[in-house]
This record gives sequence, structure tokens and C-alpha cells, in this order.
Amino acid sequence: MTIKNSTKSAPHICVIGAGPSGLAATKTLVEAGLDVTCFDGSPHIGGHWVIDNPTGRSSAYRSLRTNTTKKMSRFSDFELPEEWIEFPGFDQVREWLESYVDHFGIRRIIQLSAEVVKADPLPQGGWLITVRGADGTDRTEQFDALIAASGTYWDRKMPNWDGPFDGEIIHAQDYRSPEAVGVDGKHVTVLGIGNTGCELACELSRSSAASVCLSARSGAWILPKTVDGVPASESAPMTYPTDPVPDALMAMPEEQREAAVIAMASAAIKEKHNDRMKRFEELGLPNAPDHPFLKRPTISQDLMQCLEDGALIAKPDIERLDGEAVIFADGERVVADIIICATGYHLSYPYLAAEISDTSKDDLDLFCGIIPPDRRDLFYIGVSRPFGAFWPIAEVQAKFVAALLTEEYALPPQEEIDRRTVPTLNRPAITPGLYGLALREEMERGRNR
Ligand SMILES: Cc1cc2nc3c(=O)[nH]c(=O)nc-3n(C[C@H](O)[C@H](O)[C@H](O)COP(=O)(O)OP(=O)(O)OC[C@H]3O[C@@H](n4cnc5c(N)ncnc54)[C@H](O)[C@@H]3O)c2cc1C
Ligand SMILES: NC(=O)c1ccc[n+]([C@@H]2O[C@H](COP(=O)([O-])OP(=O)(O)OC[C@H]3O[C@@H](n4cnc5c(N)ncnc54)[C@H](OP(=O)(O)O)[C@@H]3O)[C@@H](O)[C@H]2O)c1
Repeated sequence: MTIKNSTKSAPHICVIGAGPSGLAATKTLVEAGLDVTCFDGSPHIGGHWVIDNPTGRSSAYRSLRTNTTKKMSRFSDFELPEEWIEFPGFDQVREWLESYVDHFGIRRIIQLSAEVVKADPLPQGGWLITVRGADGTDRTEQFDALIAASGTYWDRKMPNWDGPFDGEIIHAQDYRSPEAVGVDGKHVTVLGIGNTGCELACELSRSSAASVCLSARSGAWILPKTVDGVPASESAPMTYPTDPVPDALMAMPEEQREAAVIAMASAAIKEKHNDRMKRFEELGLPNAPDHPFLKRPTISQDLMQCLEDGALIAKPDIERLDGEAVIFADGERVVADIIICATGYHLSYPYLAAEISDTSKDDLDLFCGIIPPDRRDLFYIGVSRPFGAFWPIAEVQAKFVAALLTEEYALPPQEEIDRRTVPTLNRPAITPGLYGLALREEMERGRNR
């Protein structure tokens, strides 16, 4: 093990992850004049958007396209190509991220096949980072601050059931296509009605599988991706962090704005989609929550049609397994050869000790969605559930961190930090325009501190 100490005068910053969040952070911090090293355990940049990523952490499948429009998914100074389709494929997103890296000249500071296996806090502040190279050897390096941008969708959640099962159980992270799973002539049950479950169930219902069931333990608002060829998100408010905020909202105290937008958007969604949701219930899905934003709505263009066609059968939760079949919560026994768990992911930072990063509730209590209240050298980028795209949120978070690390912005007193530290994920989806405004306002206040 060798120890390399920071000798440069600018703070030495470690960014963990070269997915969209880590790339946004690296570019932004470099631009702010900081001394940055970005590590990624993969031999490729692009994180989740690298299909078959050797890390095993990408859940991209062959038919995956973004469900966020190009306008929502751009960086503030780097657009997605105009000639591309509105919802680009995973390979296009990867290509675009590669071109972002080259455009801003940050490739030289990204170390690939470099997995951070441990981040130990130093007594005087800062971190001793242990990095494992492709050859399996470890080295350590000291940093002044740590940016955790290692992704929030990789540590798979797997249900536990009683009873034996003769078939195969996989997590959606291992799904690439119907052919790759080998569904020909098989009975398949997909579990979960998030975006993944709905997309895979629809794709499978049009494959050569013998039958496909979609099992849901609770309801969700399922909204279309486009209406009459226009992205449905076009009518949603403030889906980009720099979108203008109406005067009436600006006049409200910050803590009331989100509730006002949610109430307004909720009412609009209910009015527009109530009949559609009733039809989903008639087709066998559980009742959706009263409030469309209690959890992030699912986006599915095809689910209604697949259920209407009868190619896909909605079922309640799986209660137990029974050899060659599953027993659903209503007592029905249905033959199954393959169960695909589209059951989502735990929030996880294995390189940080549990007392530093308590993710036991699949959440983090953070100030401004970025900073743990008791540290000044650790920043989370990309932990969010926006009603919009993830990367622009990561970018504004990185700008906030850059302002703090270059001392353009100063944090408020500890009492205020504690008061404003809240759960980041287990809450209604955030409105990007309001989140962007809140960060800008906080930076403005901090400039004068
Ligand atoms: C199926 C699916 C579809 C999605 N579609 C959309 C969409 O349409 N629009 C949208 O905005 N969002 C979408 N998302 C959300 C998606 O997670 C984000 O778009 C984006 O990939 C998040 O970027 P990230 O950099 O935070 O994480 P990731 O893309 O997961 O990248 C994390 C990176 O960190 C690296 N890493 C992890 N741990 C370590 C370590 N210890 N040491 C070194 N490197 C490490 C990984 O190798 C990886 O490269 C989707 C998510 C899923 C699961
Ligand atoms: N671009 C795209 O088109 C696209 C495609 C797929 C995914 N995505 C994104 O990827 C992210 C992850 O989505 P996801 O669908 O994989 O995960 P998710 O949104 O977390 O949904 C998980 C689903 O599984 C259910 N579930 C979890 N644990 C369960 C259990 N033990 N038993 C039964 N059901 C269980 C959940 O039900 P409860 O609600 O009851 O917990 C929920 O319906 C989201 O940000 C999504 O937008 C995007």
C-alpha cells in the first residue's frame, strides 16, 4: 500500500462514480478550479447507461429508452443532439455522455477500473480513500473532500417467499431481452409496477412466452409517456432546474412552494387521468394512492393496451411459492417457470461506514439534498427522485458543492442546518424548477454570510 498525500493548494476532491452524476460533478468542480480525481470501478464511463457493464450494476436492457425528454435530460451547457429522437436509447445516452467528457476535456482525470473499496475519515477532516485496481491491488490516496456519486439503482431488492420453487427467479437488473432470458413457451410472472416492471411485462407479453402475469402489491399512478404524440411531461410544471418559477410561487415561503405545486399538479393529473386509473383497477391493478405524487408516478405508454389485449394479466402480490406455481394473495395458484423481480433497489454506499452513511431506511437525511448535517467534507450527488430527469439535478447539486468548496458560499449556522436536514427520498417527488430555485436562493444567502 502506498500513501500519496495532497500537495496541491486547491482542495483535492475525490469523485466516486463516472455515471451521469459523477461526470456532472467532475466537470463542474474542475471548472471551479478544484483539483479533482474521479474513480470508477468500471472500465467504461456512463454508469447505468453502459449495457452489460462489467460491474454488473447496470440495469439497462436492449429496448431501454429514456422516459425523460431531451429537453429535460440535457445538461445546462450541453444539449442532446437535435436530430435524435425525443426519448433516446441507452446507447445514445452513453454516446452523449462520452462526448460530454471529451467536450469538457475531463477524460484525463477519470480513472477507470478503479473501484473505491473504502473511504476512511481522517481525524483532521478529509478522507483516506482505498482504491482497488483492475489487477486487484489496493492503493490509498488522501483527499480533502469526497463526492459520493456512485448511483442509487444498483443494489437490488429481492423479496423473500415461503415455499419451494422449481423455476427460475431473477432480478430485473439481469434482464436484457425476452430471448436472453429464454422465455419461449414459458409462463412468466413479473413482480412490481414501477417503470421497470411495466416495461418488461409489456415487452414480454408481446414475446413468445406462453403467458405473462404482472403482480403488484400496491397501486401507483400510471401516466402515459406521450399524449397525441406530444410528451406528457410538456404539460408538467418546471421540469428543469432553471425553468422560471411563477411569481405567485416566488412570493411564497420556500417550504410552502412544493406543497402548492404538488396540490396543483395532483389536481390536474387526477382530472386528466382519473378514468384511466379506474380502468387499470377494473383490469386488476390495485387502487392507486389518493395522491399522485406520494410516490413517483410510473410512466407507461403500453400497459393499458397490453392488459386490454389480454396478453398481460394483472395479479395481486405473490403470497408464496408452490413448486411449479406461485400463489397470489387472492389465493389463486398460477403456473410459473420464471419470476422476474422488478422490485427496485436499496440505497447503498458500501465504501462508507454505516455510522457515516446510514442507509438502513433506503434514505439519507441531508441538508439541501446533498450534505450530511454533521460533515463538511462529504457530499452526495444524484440522490433524488425528481419529477424530471436525474442528471440536471446532479448538475445543480455539483454547482452548489463547487460554490461551497471555493468559499463563494458559506453554510448557515449548525442549528439551521439541523432544522433543514430532511429525508431525501422517502418524500413526494421533487419539482426540478423549485429545487433549482431553492439551491440558488440558498447560495445567494450564503454569499452574504
Ligand atoms: C432502468 C432505468 C432507467 C432509467 N431511465 C432514466 C431516464 O430515462 N431518465 C433519467 O433521468 N433517469 C433515468 N434513470 C435513473 C438513472 O439512475 C440515472 O439516469 C443515472 O444513471 C444516474 O446516474 P448516476 O451517475 O447517479 O448513477 P449510475 O449511472 O448508476 O453511475 C454510477 C457509477 O458509479 C460507479 N461506482 C459505483 N460504486 C463505485 C465505487 N465504489 N468505486 C468506483 N466507482 C463506483 C459505477 O460503476 C457507475 O459507473 C433510470 C434508471 C434505471 C434503473
Ligand atoms: N427510462 C425508462 O423508461 C425507465 C425504465 C425502467 C426504470 N426506470 C427508472 O428506474 C428507476 C427504478 O425503477 P424500478 O421500476 O426498477 O423500481 P421502483 O420504481 O422502485 O419500483 C419497484 C416496484 O416493485 C415493488 N416491490 C418492491 N419490493 C417488493 C416486494 N418485496 N414485493 C412485491 N413488490 C415489491 C414496488 O411496490 P411498492 O410501490 O409497493 O413498494 C414497486 O411497484 C426509477 O427511477 C425509474 O423511473 C426508467
